[in-house]
Amino acid sequence: MAQLIDGKAISQTIRGELTEEVARMKTAGITPKLAVVQVGEDPASTIYVRNKKRACEQIGIDYLTYNLAEETSEQELLDLINQLNRREDVHGILVQLPLPKQINEKDIILAISPDKDVDGFHPVNMGRLATGEDGFVSCTPAGVIELLKYSGVEIDGKSCTVVGRSNNVGKPAALLMLRENATVTICHSHTKDLKEKCKTADILICAIGKPKFINHEYIKKGAVVIDIGIHRLEGKKLCGDVDREDVMDLVSMITPVPGGVGPMTVTMLMANCVKAAKRLTGYKG
Ligand code: GUN
Repeated sequence: MAQLIDGKAISQTIRGELTEEVARMKTAGITPKLAVVQVGEDPASTIYVRNKKRACEQIGIDYLTYNLAEETSEQELLDLINQLNRREDVHGILVQLPLPKQINEKDIILAISPDKDVDGFHPVNMGRLATGEDGFVSCTPAGVIELLKYSGVEIDGKSCTVVGRSNNVGKPAALLMLRENATVTICHSHTKDLKEKCKTADILICAIGKPKFINHEYIKKGAVVIDIGIHRLEGKKLCGDVDREDVMDLVSMITPVPGGVGPMTVTMLMANCVKAAKRLTGYKG
């Protein structure tokens, strides 16, 4: 029977470690500080921002929140980012996406200092990931690597298929698995023989965006399956990109939805904030 990878428990373990680390930093006079900017009142964004604030409180990270009006201009947001880039007491800057249509997301991501880019979305940090330099990694794929490591899954030399090629999830997940010495295949909507390519994978990472798309026909016996999708079905139940019941007898380990990858995203954001504060202050600890 497959083992479920408990993202909630792993997330709490990491948060415990971060809490101790932040306490040590505070004794040295350094308190990591995150600035969270929300433009408009998208209800999903409001929930995400609330979860980020709660995580900061749990770990002892200071935060500033900016709730800007829906009509805010791109220049006004750029001015705020520039001000936050210059502030020595602010170590991480997060602009919650999506943004209203008058604001170009790419311009905003480019304006955030790469050294405060705790989302890991800036092209400089994507480049650092691609070239193997130290930088900030997008939180969801960073969480995937932690889930695999905490679950004792060996990555080195394994074949890994990533389904999905978004800038924030699929591409960085593939680059991270490559950095861990997996042999990586990236699949997307134009891929021929998707089933066959998934079936070769020792580790299958699904970031497709279609509920229960992956069934037993895509799975190699004994594979480890990471399900990044999250969808609300009509009866309000949540599910992922993988039809978990259908693959359960084949896989060796799988992340549940909810309670798998989801809890790790905010935790890795917290880890990035602590890292940003260390890098910017020169704290060695
Ligand atoms: N909107 C949904 N997820 C995210 C995220 O991880 N970071 C930002 N900035 N916006 C988001």
